[in-house]
Amino acid sequence: MKIAPSILSADFAALGDAVALVEAAGADQIHIDVMDGHFVPNLTIGPPVVEAIKKRTRLPLDVHLMIEEPERWVETYARAGADLITVHAEACVHLQRVLAQIREAGAQPGVALNPATPPGVLEYVLDDLDLVLTMSVNPGFGGQLFLPTTYPKVRQLRELLAGRGIEVSVDGGVKISNAGDLAEAGAQVLVAGSAIFEAADPAQALRALRGASEVPN
Ligand code: DX5
Ligand code: ZN
Repeated sequence: MKIAPSILSADFAALGDAVALVEAAGADQIHIDVMDGHFVPNLTIGPPVVEAIKKRTRLPLDVHLMIEEPERWVETYARAGADLITVHAEACVHLQRVLAQIREAGAQPGVALNPATPPGVLEYVLDDLDLVLTMSVNPGFGGQLFLPTTYPKVRQLRELLAGRGIEVSVDGGVKISNAGDLAEAGAQVLVAGSAIFEAADPAQALRALRGASEVPN
């Protein structure tokens, strides 16, 4: 199981320290939530912050674009240092074209699916993506409650993606209490914001999350 701490819940005045802390604790990638105040009702960070974080870590940057018309920003985020660029299926009129654009820009393409969006929207773009980000909350804020509809959806995604090497990630409300069930359903990456950065000891919380996700199979 890969663990991707979401810096949305970290102290924005000390992002470099937050990233260094989770890197030392064994994080696999850094999840960066970009919001535009239109696709989601919240505003976060932009390319300069991605660029600044890139200078402070060797971990891959997993940039989750919760923005309208992401095709306008793909090259900028790739240049800023994004290793993975995930766009929302709901925000792309021409999804296949955007995924090809991400690959062309030198990043790995991912698609995020809102809780109400069925896995089937990916059926004809399976050759174009490396990651599916399954939203287990409606995106926009950290600290929301996990939606249990995520379990059957992850199972369905794993079936759809079988043998293709496309990773299934889960984002929103991931906690120690649901990490084992998510692993069992087939999740391969867990994104966690508040569970890590709002814990008294974020490094210990990260390790506990990984431990809870290690289910026997
Ligand atoms: C929500 C973001 C998430 C968020 C998760 O819109 O995409 O990445 O940071 O936060 P938690 O883990 O607190 O639900
Ligand atoms: Zn996210």
